[in-house]
Amino acid sequence: MNNEKSEFLGTAFRAAMLAGDIILSKLGKLSRENIDVKQASDFVTSVDRESELIIIETIRKKFPGHRFLAEESLREVEDANYRWIIDPLDGTTNYIHGYPVFSLSIALEFNGEIILGVIFDPLSDEIFTAETGKGAFLNGKPVRISTLTDLTDSLLATGFPFRKRDLIDPYLKLFKNIFNRVSDIRRAGSAALDLAYVASGRCEGFFEIGLGPWDIAAGSLLIKEAGGIVTDFGGGNDFLLTGNIVAAAPAIHGEILKEVKAVFQGAIDR
Ligand code: IPD
Ligand code: CA
Ligand code: CA
Repeated sequence: MNNEKSEFLGTAFRAAMLAGDIILSKLGKLSRENIDVKQASDFVTSVDRESELIIIETIRKKFPGHRFLAEESLREVEDANYRWIIDPLDGTTNYIHGYPVFSLSIALEFNGEIILGVIFDPLSDEIFTAETGKGAFLNGKPVRISTLTDLTDSLLATGFPFRKRDLIDPYLKLFKNIFNRVSDIRRAGSAALDLAYVASGRCEGFFEIGLGPWDIAAGSLLIKEAGGIVTDFGGGNDFLLTGNIVAAAPAIHGEILKEVKAVFQGAIDR
């Protein structure tokens, strides 16, 4: 494994630190005027926007020809070049409430493949990084997916489908079926951190419906580089397109996917 920083990783790292400073400096200081509603239960704050701006500026200064897919501003389409996929604040609802679980996520895609992922939790000062073929790291130290093999002993993470409330019944059915087979399930409120925690072995698996590519691009590479498996709800590779994701340690991914398919096969787009 090699944790020598490439130019890409060095730049993403710098951008993450600058954005993290902004996020921390404004924590607990937002007023109502700083918060806009995108749709029911879906918020954007001035901090999301400032964080996104500094991340894009930092990267653009170094790589002026690159494209961006950033949650709050730029939706440039993929081409045969480099594109950065950015969630400037993952866990905005938590952040607004001062609930201390949030992060930012930066990924780099080349020719449609994610080749770099950075997830930063500024509160705990933990930065999870991965580049293709180099392994996954937490604050520069290698991390690996959990070695647990028994689903019964597993701790999973998930997110509720608050943007797709019409799916709450099948989601709750799936939740119950999985809950009855595992040790416990967490819903902490930052999908990027959920994935980073799976990659670093703090929990064994994660499933959620209807995420954006910015929520999962960096985390999906972290999981793969840490030795885990990431699929969509059909068991294929289209999780960035569908936003439906199952990520887990190899020994238990198949079991979670079986439960997902039993409820969702045919009901939604993988
Ligand atoms: C959200 C968080 C949450 C997940 C949502 C995401 P945001 O991101 O990751 O855990 O359940 O689906 O959209 O909106 O705070 O960037
Ligand atoms: Ca997000
Ligand atoms: Ca966000």
